[in-house]
Amino acid sequence: MVTHEEAGFGNTFRLTSENADASERVVFVDTASATGFAGGAAITMITKSGTNTFHGSAWEFHDNGALQAKNFFVPGTHYLSPMYSPVLWDIPGQHSGHAWFGEAPKWLLAVWPGFVPFSPAFFILWAPAGFRFTCYYYRGAYYKAFWGDPFNCAVGEPGFRKKNYRGEEKLPLIFQNIHRYFFYIAAIFIGLLSYDAVMSYFFPVAGADGVAHTRFGIGIGSLVLTINPILLGGYTFGCHVYRHLVGGRHDELSKLGGRKKMYDCVSCLNRSHMKWAWASLVWVGFTDFYVRMVAAGTWHDYRIIF
Ligand code: FES
Repeated sequence: MVTHEEAGFGNTFRLTSENADASERVVFVDTASATGFAGGAAITMITKSGTNTFHGSAWEFHDNGALQAKNFFVPGTHYLSPMYSPVLWDIPGQHSGHAWFGEAPKWLLAVWPGFVPFSPAFFILWAPAGFRFTCYYYRGAYYKAFWGDPFNCAVGEPGFRKKNYRGEEKLPLIFQNIHRYFFYIAAIFIGLLSYDAVMSYFFPVAGADGVAHTRFGIGIGSLVLTINPILLGGYTFGCHVYRHLVGGRHDELSKLGGRKKMYDCVSCLNRSHMKWAWASLVWVGFTDFYVRMVAAGTWHDYRIIF
């Protein structure tokens, strides 16, 4: 056992290790609490034996984050984090089984900035991030939240501004109009993520003949990956741009038959656009987290294979 104690001002810092193979525990004990002079707490942190590395679910998730591009897929399944889908190029030496163009080519690695770890996420995250950043709902929220302008719909412009109001018709906010183009890209992503969700129900299983066969199954991961494009679809297809595309150019919607029904569906989603926005944002984050936890072996993915 290794024990180290430092006492001072009623606090004890103790580092112990029961044996060389076990994790080391760092325990902070406020002894003042024992004597009743002050509130106290004990904090236990687990470190990997023989290292200064903390480990545990949250820490490993952070440590394996997007920049390091570890554990974004679960080998032996089709589980793939939505933050990385589609994988255009694999990290050299890492075969994900999802890359469209194989390993990153030499020319790409040659131009890649050395201080940024190579990650397949960099090639795709700009699209959903751009779509959200330019979303009408988010714009309304962060304009008010971060620079208080406009204050609100019914609040007039301050007198000093007069005709100087630039709005979104002039630089720099005119760039927000790019949202309509992000919509087309986002719609494609819904298709790609739906494909990932469907594939997550197929698992390679070794048959009696020793050959791997693909079998249908349902895992918790399959369900997590399925809910993801549903929520993202609810957000994307309730977009104001889509609503305009479906019915915005017509005067008498009632005469449009099927298109009118479609317009009503989009309008229905659009009415709860904020809720879809937050639900899909939280769930896409959780889906990424789930895949990472399973890939790291921290969480077990329960599944039934038929
Ligand atoms: S307005 Fe929110 S996604 Fe288009």
